[in-house]
Amino acid sequence: MKFRYKVTVLCLLAGSAMTPVWAETECNLPTGLGQEAVCTYCVACHSLPIITQQRLSKRVWDEVLVWMVDEQAMPKIATDERALIIDYLANWFGIDKPR
Ligand code: HEC
Repeated sequence: MKFRYKVTVLCLLAGSAMTPVWAETECNLPTGLGQEAVCTYCVACHSLPIITQQRLSKRVWDEVLVWMVDEQAMPKIATDERALIIDYLANWFGIDKPR
């Protein structure tokens, strides 16, 4: 009886470990300042690959964010966080990065 109880508990633990609650919001991006912000703001409407397949200069990333807000109805992001996002994107997905 006692043994059975333990097995049940183990199964429950294993089950929850395989499908963690945060699985859906897993931030599958290179680690760095701005990573979290991109995952917070940019996956509301589309998946990450639409972003990570791009190779854009900092100026064009800035324009993409303007475009998201003006034409795609993205809520405006606070200036400091916005700068963080653009730096992050230009660093990891800049024109000189290999695909
Ligand atoms: C409110 C919804 C929304 C949010 C939030 C949003 N986007 Fe978009 N985004 C769109 C839509 C809609 C498209 C497709 C537009 C089209 O191709 O006509 C798109 C397309 C894109 C593209 C593809 C452009 C291309 O040339 O195909 C990039 C890059 C992009 N978004 C980046 C971002 C980034 C970075 C963020 C976060 C800062 C973001 N988006 C947040 C709605 C959104």
